[in-house]
Amino acid sequence: MSTPSQRRVEHQQTDRGYVPVYATGVVEQPWADYSPTDHGVWDALFRRQCELLPGRACREFLDGVTRFGLGDGGIPKFSELNRVLGRSTGWTLVAVEGLLPDEVFFDHLAHRRFPVTWWIRKPEQLDYLSEPDLFHDLFGHVPLLLNPVFADYMQAYGQGGMKAFAIGREALTLLTRLYWYTVEFGLIRTDEGLRIYGAGIVSSKGESIYSLESPAPNRIGFDLERVMRTRYRIDSYQQTYFVIDDFEQLFAATRPDFTPLYARLAAQPPLAAADVLATDHVYQRGTRVGFAAGSDT
Ligand code: PHE
Ligand code: FE
Repeated sequence: MSTPSQRRVEHQQTDRGYVPVYATGVVEQPWADYSPTDHGVWDALFRRQCELLPGRACREFLDGVTRFGLGDGGIPKFSELNRVLGRSTGWTLVAVEGLLPDEVFFDHLAHRRFPVTWWIRKPEQLDYLSEPDLFHDLFGHVPLLLNPVFADYMQAYGQGGMKAFAIGREALTLLTRLYWYTVEFGLIRTDEGLRIYGAGIVSSKGESIYSLESPAPNRIGFDLERVMRTRYRIDSYQQTYFVIDDFEQLFAATRPDFTPLYARLAAQPPLAAADVLATDHVYQRGTRVGFAAGSDT
């Protein structure tokens, strides 16, 4: 597995200084440059989520947080997390400036590299940020990479992404909805009740509570085609959450070749984020109370 420094190709001027940029968008995590404030933001967010998540996040996520030692104080070093990942599921974290072009992102996942934004939000942004930062990417996504089934799902998603990218825009739209409603905003059924596994939820204090406890949103059993037809919200909490039985179900459902599925679904109109169908397995039909007006993505 190549390291970031082996892939260095050039330097680029950014608003965070003159940084090395690789063809893959990868930079070195500038760990020594984090300020005490940066470390304090990590600690504050970490402490807040760890008070909230026992009994709300799934066991696999909480186990991952513990095994990585993410709460040892201060922003973790990717190099240390990579040692843990290396001897379990073989993923590697790579530091990036921010969101990557689709095909670059998919290529990372397909090679079991997870891109993590290296910079962290400001103290006044603890509750909301419009783009992913270190806390979302690392705390939200990385713990589950220690779960073997989820780790394989993420790689398969990257490979599927490369394929969808070659097929075209509509295929990508359908595949992106799957990512949104599983990796980012997924819920999972357990013997103790519904639990969170989506990174967008576990990295948000408000949505960690809302996704499970609010009567407003729908909670509907996962169905691949149903999910791929459903538009989503980027400006508010979700109006529908999809519930998987376990990670094996998710992996098995997404194993078949999507090429015929893309062709079939492209001919159907999308569903609104808040829709409930007669064919849905409904855990909870949302009251829609407090749903903001506005349109789905
Ligand atoms: N099986 C999908 C395909 O053929 C790839 C995929 C796997 C997509 C897992 C998402 C998740 O395109
Ligand atoms: Fe994310």
